[in-house]
Amino acid sequence: MQRIAMLGSGFIGRFYADSIQGLRSQDKVISVYSRSEKNAKKFADDYGCKYWTTNLEEAVANPEVDIVCISLPNNLHETAVDLCCKYRKAVITTKPLGRNAVEAKRMLEAVEKAGIFNGYLEDLVYTPKSLKAIESVKNGAIGRVLWTKSRETHPGPHSDWFWDIEQAGGGCILDLGCHCVELNRSYIGKDIKPVEAMCWADTQVKPIDAEDHAIALIKYENGAIGQFEVSWTFRGGLDLRDEVMGSEGTIWINSFLRTGFEMFTSGKGGNYVAEKAESNSGWLFPVGDELNELGYNHMFFDMFSSIEKGIPPKETFYDGYVVNSILDACYRSAKSKLWEPVNLEVWRGREGVSKDSHLVEYDADNYLVKEEVTHYGAKKVILKSKATGKIVERVLD
Ligand SMILES: NC(=O)c1ccc[n+]([C@@H]2O[C@H](COP(=O)([O-])OP(=O)(O)OC[C@H]3O[C@@H](n4cnc5c(N)ncnc54)[C@H](O)[C@@H]3O)[C@@H](O)[C@H]2O)c1
Repeated sequence: MQRIAMLGSGFIGRFYADSIQGLRSQDKVISVYSRSEKNAKKFADDYGCKYWTTNLEEAVANPEVDIVCISLPNNLHETAVDLCCKYRKAVITTKPLGRNAVEAKRMLEAVEKAGIFNGYLEDLVYTPKSLKAIESVKNGAIGRVLWTKSRETHPGPHSDWFWDIEQAGGGCILDLGCHCVELNRSYIGKDIKPVEAMCWADTQVKPIDAEDHAIALIKYENGAIGQFEVSWTFRGGLDLRDEVMGSEGTIWINSFLRTGFEMFTSGKGGNYVAEKAESNSGWLFPVGDELNELGYNHMFFDMFSSIEKGIPPKETFYDGYVVNSILDACYRSAKSKLWEPVNLEVWRGREGVSKDSHLVEYDADNYLVKEEVTHYGAKKVILKSKATGKIVERVLD
């Protein structure tokens, strides 16, 4: 059994607590920190926590706590991590790790120096669909990954601090792009180095200093390209979609809207539909089991089992740092309008991977361009001669 202190009693703190304590789990949130006494007490009541406090240090220092779960605004992650290092508590923190790579690197170095377990709570790589898709890619089902595309768009976040660039550290690039980048890395290979980024960002709708819409491309050393599309201006709910294109296949994943559960209601019941749903009447797209479909259950299973086995989880502070470094390059590119290098002062993956070859051998003399059976029954191959470079077509018997 793991005894957890939850720092923060807001939106994600509650999702996390629901997941940790759901389905007869043996793990327990025993303590909660919140700024206000009222919220701390309410959370403690709702989740049966033994302790509540409005003092951050007291929550971390509690000797009964095994793991500290950081569910605080982005500008408070580092303070909370430093306290976990001071009291040598295992720490798991929500995304993004830092407001930028400088902060993220300091947090990475601090937990490693303190020698404490560290987990990065990137739930979207743990959804049942992502887990299955990533496994299929690893098993070679779609060949070489060429292009991954991840989209997270919704009508904007639910609390004031997200909209304040100082506290949040950025707009939708940081808030949503962090999920997309880690999904893209998981498909391309987390050991493949991201090299440069090109990003368009703008503030199209909201009266804020940060960006509310962005699209980016990230080039990886093996020639693969990762793309993300993020927005706080999208209408219609939470749109979470991924596409992975490989030399041997394709994956399309729709994680939230239109996943096979559609419901019409006049609005009489007025029930909660799903995260960021904009309406509770008319045709709706409810989500059957949000905790599972958003990956929280598998994520905490990995975190707590890894602690018990004494091994790092799948997602660590190092991954959070790499994500922040990629997003920093996107921010620079959005300003410069140029491809910007991804600066990774700490890189633990492969180095000098050459671009994957696109040449597929057909026989000793030719490369294969394409094979096809036409509607009139001809079996054709299109070949490129290795010796002359000439393209020829052969109809097979
Ligand atoms: N899917 C996800 O992984 C996901 C989803 C939502 C939010 N998050 C992340 O979770 C973190 C918290 O976001 P949230 O949506 O729960 O926000 P929230 O505003 O709902 O809750 C934040 C909590 O921190 C407290 N807080 C706010 N300002 C504070 C301050 N100045 N000092 C002390 N405490 C303060 C609030 O009282 C509340 O308890 C952010 O880092 C966010 O990026 C992750």
